Amino acid sequence: MDKEIKRIAVFTSGGDAPGMNAAVRAVVRTASYHDLHVYGIRRGYEGMIAGDIRRLEKRDVGNILQRGGTVLKTARSQEFRTPEGRASAHESLMAHDIDACIAIGGDGTFTGANIFSQEYNIPFIGVPGTIDNDIFGTDYTIGFDTAVNTAMEAVDKIRDTAESHNRLFFVEVMGRHAGFIALNVGISGGAEMVLLPEKETPIEEVIARLKKSAKRKKLFSLVLIAEGNKSGRAREIAAEVKGQLDMFDIRTTVVGHLQRGGSPSGFDRVLSSRLGFHAVEGLLNGKENVAVGIVNDKIKYTPFEDAINKDKSLNRDLLRMAEILGL
Ligand code: F6P
Repeated sequence: MDKEIKRIAVFTSGGDAPGMNAAVRAVVRTASYHDLHVYGIRRGYEGMIAGDIRRLEKRDVGNILQRGGTVLKTARSQEFRTPEGRASAHESLMAHDIDACIAIGGDGTFTGANIFSQEYNIPFIGVPGTIDNDIFGTDYTIGFDTAVNTAMEAVDKIRDTAESHNRLFFVEVMGRHAGFIALNVGISGGAEMVLLPEKETPIEEVIARLKKSAKRKKLFSLVLIAEGNKSGRAREIAAEVKGQLDMFDIRTTVVGHLQRGGSPSGFDRVLSSRLGFHAVEGLLNGKENVAVGIVNDKIKYTPFEDAINKDKSLNRDLLRMAEILGL
């Protein structure tokens, strides 16, 4: 990239995540420090196509660090998947003389950025913002820690009523095709079992495990289920085992979009600030078409192709520990 960067655009895209505002704030503050002009694009690629773009200055990102959601709003754009949509988006950026973009979102956001940046030779830096934590090239994504804490607090409340009524609860958490949230909530919430996409657990194994608990007169239990679990979601699993576990009074809870809201945790605020800060400094140091991440506490820039296509593996040792601690 040869053109000097003086004007950058930032946007949030895909599922919102607690901490996105902290990342936007860090982008604007860091860019201002380097005398760059920053433009906020509202509603992700939808807003880029529509030209919903306005200047952001330091004072515009005051008092947002602690807020959940995204002040720039977000969207999932079908139109951006078309060449015509991307052409309109390019016109919008050119109308504001944008030299580079910072895209805060997940793999879908990075996929769009990768295609667009190659079509129009505009440098992009991706900031991994999704509660799913399923982005290769960073140990943690923005929003994951907050989502785990939110779901864990919900599980603690479910545990109270499960114990009072001697009930078996199947609790479903988000994560799309990944089990990072389920595994960490299973451990922190003291679940008996965790069912997740990365490790197939036959229904017979679930039944056998719970029958053993019943033999030990343990009639209240929590089973954590990732929504991407291949043998079924909470309601499906509950229906399937109902006939074979008549000693249990079974209920299900789907934590749902609670996991996407709330004020970001301290961890997420620091992570988001670091990623936003290094997204800007990376652009100024010639980085382009990469996702910024933190691996073993070191800043890392990963080409979009890898960030999008390489699988981030679940910690198998953590999974084994969870299975043993749940006995
Ligand atoms: O990718 C974040 C996420 O919350 C996933 O965990 C979940 O499956 C999905 O978004 C839900 O999408 P929507 O908010 O469009 O229902």
